[in-house]
Amino acid sequence: MVRGWLAAVVLSLLVIAPRPTLAADETGESADRAFIMGLPKAELHVHLEGTMEPELYLEMARRNGIATRYATPEDVRSRLRDANDLSSFIQIYEELVGVMQTERDFHDVALAYFRKARSQGVVHAEVYVDPQLHQARGVSLATLYGGLARAREDASRELGLDARFILSFLRDRPADQAAQVLEESRPWLGSLIIGVGLDNPEVDDFPAKFQAVYARARELGLHLTSHCDVDQPNTVAHHWSVIKLLGVERIDHGLNVLNDPALVEEVRRRKIGLTGAATLFYADIPGRMEYRAGAIARLLDKGLLVTVNSDDPGMKRSLYVGDLMLRVQQTTGMDRAHLAQLARNSFAISWIEPAQRRAYALRLKRYLRQSDLDLAKRPAGVR
Ligand code: HPA
Ligand code: ZN
Repeated sequence: MVRGWLAAVVLSLLVIAPRPTLAADETGESADRAFIMGLPKAELHVHLEGTMEPELYLEMARRNGIATRYATPEDVRSRLRDANDLSSFIQIYEELVGVMQTERDFHDVALAYFRKARSQGVVHAEVYVDPQLHQARGVSLATLYGGLARAREDASRELGLDARFILSFLRDRPADQAAQVLEESRPWLGSLIIGVGLDNPEVDDFPAKFQAVYARARELGLHLTSHCDVDQPNTVAHHWSVIKLLGVERIDHGLNVLNDPALVEEVRRRKIGLTGAATLFYADIPGRMEYRAGAIARLLDKGLLVTVNSDDPGMKRSLYVGDLMLRVQQTTGMDRAHLAQLARNSFAISWIEPAQRRAYALRLKRYLRQSDLDLAKRPAGVR
């Protein structure tokens, strides 16, 4: 009885006692932040359209003479607070994308993202783009890809960042639209576009629908990935189908691999990359970061090729890949060896030539050596 009372007092003191406010240096946070921001890494799951910050959205609306119901960036952010799941988010995403019209727009959105990404350690980026969304508004592929090609050149020259694009088909639209945009994109396949993916709302049985398009993309020499978003209906079946029917090399998100031990083994056996996204909506969803970061940590513990990615940073609280790695680290208690493994994984599953992969690996090794981390060491369990 007395012990119970004592415990209650101690617990209440712990809860209500103000925490001492330590300077960031004392908590080690600023050192961790600096380590993460400087860590050379590849970003492999980010949507060009979702990198658009509210400020740039308003600027493009203004210069293109497009009426918008938002007067300030805060109004856009407030609208983004209505998003709390995949379909509500995509509804707003499709609405905001409507201001992108000219080659300059695509260039500016991409280059703004590359600058931000480079400031957080990204040296290589493979960026999703949704041509069907833009074609639906009458934007030509030449306009879209012309802007992206220029941004890619600028990123290389100005930032030393290597960028490629992933042509993404919309899962909730007919497969023949996807087949058509793939053929129309042929002049840009290879150097600018190196792979195909699937995004937008996760409709039932979507992998079966795109089997022929993926077979054609493979024939054209493209790499293959697909979204399997987190906790969608039939998620385990969708993971199996993208592997078996589409033959993907990576799965975007892919955290629900953990739902099925046989899937874990298959992903390991095939060395499939999992581009996790520990993102936060503007709307607060308690436990979201803990859940996603925890899943990423468990996949890492299992030795799978998981990475941390920013998905839609301009529309999800301006959290870029370094910011998110820091959140993941703080949430799970990962140490620097785990963070290094995440960076190593990002190069391992990127779609680059072997010589370039070796160069990135060396760059990472040098960085870790400077930071007193032995590259050869695999991290122990996260917890
Ligand atoms: N999932 C599906 N579609 C998307 C996403 C996503 O994470 N982001 C932008 N389009
Ligand atoms: Zn995504």
